[in-house]
Amino acid sequence: MLSSVTVRAPAKVNLALGVGPLRSDGFHGLTTVFHAVGLYDDLVATPLRPGSGVQLVVEGEGAAEVPLDSTNLAWRAVTALEAYGASPDVSLAIRKGIPVAGGMAGGSADGAAALVAIDALFELGLGKETLYDVAAALGSDVPFALHGGTAIGSDRGTALTTALVRGTYHWVFVLAEQGLPTPLVFREFDRLHDAATVPDPEVPDDVMSALRAGDAEALGRALHNDLQGPAVSLRPHLAQVLSIGEEYGALGGVVSGSGPTCAFLARDDEHAVDLAVAFTASGVCRTVKRANGPVPGARVVDQRSTA
Ligand code: C5P
Repeated sequence: MLSSVTVRAPAKVNLALGVGPLRSDGFHGLTTVFHAVGLYDDLVATPLRPGSGVQLVVEGEGAAEVPLDSTNLAWRAVTALEAYGASPDVSLAIRKGIPVAGGMAGGSADGAAALVAIDALFELGLGKETLYDVAAALGSDVPFALHGGTAIGSDRGTALTTALVRGTYHWVFVLAEQGLPTPLVFREFDRLHDAATVPDPEVPDDVMSALRAGDAEALGRALHNDLQGPAVSLRPHLAQVLSIGEEYGALGGVVSGSGPTCAFLARDDEHAVDLAVAFTASGVCRTVKRANGPVPGARVVDQRSTA
């Protein structure tokens, strides 16, 4: 019997995010290229006495903004796995390293981490397919947090195909003071576009060929996000952040997912340090983080047994 399981799950940035028209189920069809980067949330799951229920604690930067009730995706993961034999009596302790409400799928990473941790803790032996199905029911970005690496996402972002990638990419992330709720950004997309003229998004050839070639300069030029316009419309300050990145010689810059974090691609580690220092000195932001990608998806990094 295991007494605790620790799972580490990565943040993501969308190298390309094409958004289709609003569907009747309230979601938008997407074609995206997900890329997992080395900013992590760690989740420790521990069994509790029968009748305790879920106990959730969150610490780290932005923890105060994270819900501690059954709306949290990690909590919802426990509830979803009860149907597969998981005990509902479990403590979840999350340490945030991923910006909260930043467009980097931090909540989804916690959902994915909880799925992997509960599966291991209660020895459910769930297959990959079941875990991915439960993940997709939790949220559009949760399957990719399990998958990691670099992958094309279609449907809601939940249907994944591993992408062929050469090399490591060096990123600088410029964080905003206040998060942006994803549904708000999609609503702004709808407001700014006439649904009848929004084309179905396609896999971007320029991003895929840059990744195959390991060509960071070409990838920098190809970064694209259909949610960038809506995010900038809601937070005009982001336009300034993006233009400063260009001025400082980033290979490319893009709003990450639904924002407000902005992601900038650097040539190498040294260039990433230079960019990060320049951003910090510019005063346009409070927090800058560096991370490389691709990195693996949610995985067990420690597990302990009762003596
Ligand atoms: O799937 P998730 O719960 O993360 O989605 C949050 C919200 O973002 C959805 O309720 C929807 O408003 C919007 N969304 C969307 N199309 C997607 C993914 C998310 O409209 N493909």
